[in-house]
Parts: sequence; structure tokens; C-alpha cells
Amino acid sequence: MAMVCLSDFEAYAKKYLPKIAWDFFAAGADDCSTRDENILAYKRIRFRPRMLRDVSVMDIRTKLLGTEISFPVGIAPTGFHQLAWPDGEKSTARAAKAMNTCYIASTYSTCTLEEISAAAPGGLRWFQLYIHRNRAVSQQLVQRAEALGFQGLVLTADLPYTGKRRDDVRNGFCLPPHMTLKNLEGAFEVCKMSPLDPSVTWNDIYWLRSLTHLPIIIKGILTKEDAELAVRHGVQGIIVSNHGGRQLDGGPATIDALVEVVEAVQGRVEVYLDGGIRKGSDVLKALALGAKCVFIGRPALWGLAYKGEEGLQDVLRILQDEFRLSMALAG
Ligand code: FNR
Repeated sequence: MAMVCLSDFEAYAKKYLPKIAWDFFAAGADDCSTRDENILAYKRIRFRPRMLRDVSVMDIRTKLLGTEISFPVGIAPTGFHQLAWPDGEKSTARAAKAMNTCYIASTYSTCTLEEISAAAPGGLRWFQLYIHRNRAVSQQLVQRAEALGFQGLVLTADLPYTGKRRDDVRNGFCLPPHMTLKNLEGAFEVCKMSPLDPSVTWNDIYWLRSLTHLPIIIKGILTKEDAELAVRHGVQGIIVSNHGGRQLDGGPATIDALVEVVEAVQGRVEVYLDGGIRKGSDVLKALALGAKCVFIGRPALWGLAYKGEEGLQDVLRILQDEFRLSMALAG
């Protein structure tokens, strides 16, 4: 089967992954309207292409908080990569490094931070944090990530509780017994009560700041009000995200929320976006509306499911080629 576009990887993953894993990756909250809207919203946005502008040489590199990446697409944090490929997050780290882009490793990884670092030494990585009720667990994770050379701390703000994903409820989803949340071993088991702290507020940014020198990027912002609060609390970056439509159903598509966030921030911090990126032209639309970079969630998992590190590199390379082509054709 020729893999030509990201939908081909989606079809492959749907066909070959065990149903319970596919359903978990695909899930959105409730009736999935926000998940689907993330994708539909791109189709409503049209370019105003310009012609005869000499596009024989193009530079698609960008910088994330000062570090250069090969093109403006990174890998969003998603949990449980071993459900897609036996080597799990180690393969993800290798693919990101090979493509010279940023990988945000999830708190809910099935490999340890140490294994992820060792798999691809020197790669650009950020660590995504969910704040735990037991603050010592979070503190230790942040400090481990910093010591291992992770270069940013991504605080996910949109998951005080896990959204209601109907298929996961129906399937009784939980990790198979041979996989664990390696970074949290001993701290909890995934089918028991959520260990995440739903009482987190903006003040906890100050607590995080006191733990680490790493730049803090806040993920899950959708409004100008919260963007302003994020800047006022001293974060260095914002990821406009609705968790791939897995949390609050009925919120906006991220590409629609991007505009008010960019306007509110006025260049004071970097603004990124995730959710619904499936083509190079989606990347270009997000950049045209003010994002510095975008991140992919599910498509990275489809790439892993296809052929591990190699499959994820294929996904990134296709997006890179499509992005370059769209840029050229848009002038
Ligand atoms: C996620 N996402 C997520 N976010 C996060 O901050 N920590 C996490 O552990 C996870 N886990 C996770 C698992 C799975 C299976 C999915 C699909 C998503 C959300 C993720 O970072 C991102 O916001 C969305 O996936 C982006 O949407 P697309 O690219 O999947 O459309």
C-alpha cells in the first residue's frame, strides 16, 4: 500500500491496531463534535494565493524558544505509545531527532524519561506535565526531566478530570498488564481513581517556576482571557489546544481559537497550536493565522502503528513536503 498522505496512515492504523487501542487513540469526548470540528474548520479557510514570487528557494526552518527545528511541526504529547508500537516512546524520540523536530513527551509515557533520553541523545524534547495530587510526584518528574536535558516544561491545563470518551467506557479501556506508566511506577494504576489534582489554579505556575529553570509552556488555552493570564503569570509559550477534542465537547476548533489568542498575546510569548493538522496546507493556514509552530497528536500514533520510528518519520516527511509545496503554491 502506497502511503501518500496522512489519511493512509490513519486507515492502516484503524485496520491493524487492536480495536481497544484504535478506539482509545481516535476517541473524542461525548459525541466528538469538537474533535471533528478541529478538522472541518480547516476546510472552511481559504488561501489568497499570490503569483510570480520566485519560490525556487524556500527556508522552512523555524525556532522554538530559540532552538532551531527543520520545519514548523512537532510531536504533541500523547500517552501510551507502546499501544501503537512495541518500542513505544523510544521510537518516537528517534524519529523526532532524525527529522530534527521537537517531541513533547507525555507524563503518561510507557517508557521512562531516562529511556526516552537515551534513545535519541541530544534531540530537542519538552516534558509534558499533569500535576498530581501528590505534589512530590510532580516535583520529582520535573526535576528528572530537567536533569535529563529536556528543554521545556509543558503544563497541560485542560484536564482537571478526564473527558467522557464513550468508546473507552464501553471497552473498559485500561493498559494491558505488560505495559505500565513507567514514569509513575508505584504512584498509581491507571484504572483506579485519577491521581490528577483538579484544584490546580494559575497560582500553581508560580509553584512550578520555583521548581525549575526550564521555560514553561501552557497547553490547552482557547480564549484571549486565558492567554492574557498566561502571559501575566510568566509563561514562555502557549499551545492553543482542546486536547484533540477529548476533553470539553462543544468548545471551538483550535484553528478558530488561535486568532483571538494571537491578538491578545501581541508577540509577548510564542503561540503554537495543535488539533486537526492532517495536511501541509493546514500547517500553512495555522502559521498564516499567527502560530509559530504546530504539533501533531494522532497522526504521530498512526505513523508509529505503521512502522515505528520509520513510520513516524514517513508521516513527518509527508507533512514537510506538503507544507513546502503549499508555501510555494501560495506564493
Ligand atoms: C492526547 N493528548 C494528550 N495531551 C497531553 O497533554 N498529555 C497526554 O498525555 C495526552 N495524551 C493523549 C493521548 C491520545 C491518544 C491523544 C489522541 C491525545 C492531546 C494531544 O497532546 C493533542 O492535544 C491532540 O492530540 C491534538 O490533536 P490531533 O493532532 O490528535 O488532532
